[in-house]
Amino acid sequence: MQKLDLMYTGKAKKVYSTDDETLCIFEYKDDATAFNGEKKGSFEGKGIINNKMANIIFRLLEKEGIRTHFVEQLSDRETLVKKVNIIPLEVIIRNVAAGSFSKRYGVKEGTALESSTIEFSYKNDDLGDPLINSYHAVALGIATRENIEEIKTLAFKINDALKKIFIEIGIKLIDFKIEVGFDSEGNIILSDEISPDTCRLWDAETNKKLDKDRFRFDLGEFGDVYHEVFNRLVEKYGE
Ligand code: TMP
Ligand code: ASP
Repeated sequence: MQKLDLMYTGKAKKVYSTDDETLCIFEYKDDATAFNGEKKGSFEGKGIINNKMANIIFRLLEKEGIRTHFVEQLSDRETLVKKVNIIPLEVIIRNVAAGSFSKRYGVKEGTALESSTIEFSYKNDDLGDPLINSYHAVALGIATRENIEEIKTLAFKINDALKKIFIEIGIKLIDFKIEVGFDSEGNIILSDEISPDTCRLWDAETNKKLDKDRFRFDLGEFGDVYHEVFNRLVEKYGE
């Protein structure tokens, strides 16, 4: 597989084309951003462990019958993935109130929700990724009604699988964000990454935050908690 042109530079990774037009290569950087890129940081080796964590999780999800973009880890920082035409929606599932949900609805962080919820943000940096409802997404031509229904079913299935993966290693899945899109055969599949950058993960016993909130809100131990999640994943599931 030959790595060709840089197609896209994201906040935490770069995406390269390859000599196979259905595949591309993700290269994970050590950078972290928050609040639409306003806050910047990093720690040495973040890209390596996020790459590996996302790949452990994608392999486990594949075993649960969830279609993902994962093909093969190429190196510490690089992974071969299916090229996906991303649907510009951030799909967020929540099991416990936190973050923008707690703020918007005045619900104390850590309050268990009566049932898991889903919401969408319109992926658009200029607009600051605004919350969008499914009718708006259809009206704007971002997705069809059928696409939305499929995405919802997929997202809740991923939630069930992820909750199990994490509780096995003593971690509660509070909420998470995924991105989905169409592969070259027109299937809607899971893309982007799943890592402590994109999930809220709390230690099941102590409720210690083991995710990017440590960076967002300057809670300290940013790198340490990523290593903690990585070590627990590797110990239980292997690399
Ligand atoms: P929120 O509570 O800030 O809306 O975040 C919900 C979840 O989505 C949380 O696990 C963090 C994740 N997330 C991202 O991965 N990228 C983003 O740009 C935002 C705003 C949230
Ligand atoms: N707003 C995102 C976050 O807080 C990251 C970013 O957009 O820079 O996770």
